[in-house]
Amino acid sequence: MMKRLVAALGIAAAAAMAPAQAQEPVRIGLIGPFSGPFADYGKQIEGGMKAWLKQNGDTYAGRKIEILVRDTTGPAPEVAKRLAQELVVRDKVDFLAGFGLTPEALAVAPVATQAKTPMVIMNAATSVITTRSPYAVRFSMTLPQNSAPMGTWAIKNGIKRVYTLVADYGPGIDSETWFSKFFKDAGGEIIDSVRVPLKNPEFAPFIQRIKDAKPEAVFVFLPPGEHTIAFMKGFQERGLKEAGIKVIATGDLTDDHLLDSMGDPVLGIITTFHYSVAHDSPENKAFLKAFAEANPSGGRPNFMAVGGYDGMRAITEVVKSLNGKLDADKAMELFKQMKFESPRGPISIDPATRDIVQNIYARKVERRDGHLYNVEFDKFPNFKDPAK
Ligand code: PHB
Repeated sequence: MMKRLVAALGIAAAAAMAPAQAQEPVRIGLIGPFSGPFADYGKQIEGGMKAWLKQNGDTYAGRKIEILVRDTTGPAPEVAKRLAQELVVRDKVDFLAGFGLTPEALAVAPVATQAKTPMVIMNAATSVITTRSPYAVRFSMTLPQNSAPMGTWAIKNGIKRVYTLVADYGPGIDSETWFSKFFKDAGGEIIDSVRVPLKNPEFAPFIQRIKDAKPEAVFVFLPPGEHTIAFMKGFQERGLKEAGIKVIATGDLTDDHLLDSMGDPVLGIITTFHYSVAHDSPENKAFLKAFAEANPSGGRPNFMAVGGYDGMRAITEVVKSLNGKLDADKAMELFKQMKFESPRGPISIDPATRDIVQNIYARKVERRDGHLYNVEFDKFPNFKDPAK
């Protein structure tokens, strides 16, 4: 206790003696899973944030950007909430950021409201999250936004009978609901729907049931990692492709970071999504270069890295616009007006919902130069979250 007090006084004395022009850093509390089954989520988000700082510098309006990384080990909403409380009370962060998983973002939203701290969401994608705090803004995506276009695409491409399989939590339920709504409204039939648990999923029985039901396609939302790998393995082993069943999905299933290691079973899969490494634009090339430089052993970035990169860009633009004098309400007004060219294409924030508006692309997994890519072939321009 005494030691801590002395240390704290020491820091205060040092701060008092610091030259007048040395400004406090801008502190960003980055919350996400950095260990456990979803460790890649935290790493991708942080990697994207670092890529922006590598490309554009780490000091804005004289204030250096400091990222305080906090591992939830999640999904662990209680841990996320406690970490957020510590970050706002003890570390006095100016922004909360990150959020790989919906349950963790939902647990932190009331903390952001109470502390009046902007909460910049870089992945978590259940539609409702941004309604839970006036200080939340999202630079990633929502599942209704990415799933509804697949309902439209499937009907236009002659698919009429679909089985849905999703992870049994917010994003899965959102994608089941909004894929099915657009698909059925256009004349499609959902023959059955299953939801698999987020923790310790077991796919074999579900996959057999799907095979027996003989749909034309199975629509899938699963969070990238053990779920997507296990699903594709089961799909392959039980011969669903040979039985003539197609896979249609949101791009979470064919996540760029894992795609190459998933191999032949994913070739030809059609997904709808907001980002592909194969997106052809100067902004994406610059992002890929900066990501590789900032994360030498980071592998291929995915959509979560882009969420981190764009969210970091948005924060640095706020710091610049406010000339370093941060104010949460002014920051939120600036976030609501944002519009820029992302590595994924043009994006903007809808001021009414603080949620992202962006192109959703139809893509197909193809092999090019020995590597697998989600190759974009069509788009749904400036597509808003249909759930709001
Ligand atoms: C989420 O928990 O909100 C989530 C996780 C992984 C995804 C998408 C959404 O790919």
